[in-house]
Amino acid sequence: MRVSVDEAAQILLKGENVAVPTETVYGLAALMDNIQGVDRIFALKNRPRANPLIIHIADVETVEAVAKEIPEGFYALASAFWPGPLALALPVDVSKVPESVRAGLPTACFRMPNHPLALELIRKSGPLVMPSANLSGKPSPTAAGAVEEDFGSLVPVLDGGPCQRGVESTILIWQDGMWRLGRLGALAVEEIAALLGYYPEGSDGKEKPLCPGQKWRHYAPKAHLLTSLPVSEEVEAVIGFDERSYPQRKYFFSLGSIHSPEKAAFRLYEILRKLDRQGIKSAFIDVDFPSTGLWRTLRERILKAAGQEFDAK
Ligand code: TXA
Ligand code: MG
Repeated sequence: MRVSVDEAAQILLKGENVAVPTETVYGLAALMDNIQGVDRIFALKNRPRANPLIIHIADVETVEAVAKEIPEGFYALASAFWPGPLALALPVDVSKVPESVRAGLPTACFRMPNHPLALELIRKSGPLVMPSANLSGKPSPTAAGAVEEDFGSLVPVLDGGPCQRGVESTILIWQDGMWRLGRLGALAVEEIAALLGYYPEGSDGKEKPLCPGQKWRHYAPKAHLLTSLPVSEEVEAVIGFDERSYPQRKYFFSLGSIHSPEKAAFRLYEILRKLDRQGIKSAFIDVDFPSTGLWRTLRERILKAAGQEFDAK
C-alpha cells in the first residue's frame, strides 16, 4: 500500500510503521517515543535487539534537547553536511531517549535526511527512528518496490521515488574527545577530514566495531559474488562498467561509468536485488576501481555482499 505524508503520520501515531524515502535508502520508521512502534521495527526486520537505531530529525534543537553535551565539531559538521548522509552518535541523557532505541548504550545516533518527504513527515510527527527498510541481512531498499519485496502488505510505503545516493549514511561516533568513523557511507571521509582537520579513524577490525550493526552479516544477495577474473562458464552474470569489456555471459548489469562512483552507488543495491529476482546463482562484479572517497564505501559494501573481508586500512 502506498500512503501520503498525512496518512503516514496517522499510522505512526497509532504505534505502527511506515517506510519512508531518504536520499540514502528507504527507512522503516516508528516515532522515537512510541515503544510499541519501536518494538515492531525489531520484530518486522528480525533485527537483533543489541543493534541501536538512528534518530532522524528535522532540526538541530532536537539533538540539543536530549544531548548530554554537544561535542566539539558538532555544529560545524551539522551545518556543513545536514541535511545529508551523515549520522552522528553522541552521549545523551538516557532518560530522554528510549532504551530500545539506544540498545542500552549511553549514546544515540542522529541524522537529518535530505529528502523533502522525510523532512515534511518528521516536522508533522516528531523525530523518527529508521533502520533501512529491508529484512536484516538483505541489501537495503533504494526504491518503494524493494521495500514491498521484503515486507509485502505488512508495511505501507511513502513513495518518494528512487533514492538519489543509494548507499547508507556515513556514521561518526564521538569517543574519547574525538570523532571516529563507525561506518563508511555516502559521504566521503575525505570531506569530513577536510572539515575537522583530522582523519576520523575507525576500528582496526581487531577491536569491537564502533557501530554494533557492523557485527552482523550485511548487504547479501543469495547469489554468490566473485570479484576476480577469470570466472567459470557457470557464472551467469557480469556486473561492471560501461567502458570495459568482460567475458560474455547471459546477463550484464551496468554500474554506469568508471568515472562516476555516484552512479555506481545509485545502482548497486537494486542490481544485487535483481540477481535474486532473476534466480541468478553466481555473478562476477568488477571491483577494479580506486580506494578513495565514495569508491571506498562501494568496495566495502561489495566485499561484504561477497562474504569477503574488507581491509579498513
Ligand atoms: O542512511 C542511513 O543511515 C539509513 C537511512 C534510513 O537513514 N539508515 C540506516 O540504518 O542505515 P541501519 O539501522 O540500517 O544502520 C544504523 C547503524 C547500525 O550499524 C547501528 O549499529 C548504528 O547505526 N548505530 C545506531 N545508533 C548507534 C550508536 N548510538 N552508537 C553507535 N552506532 C550506532
Ligand atoms: Mg541496515
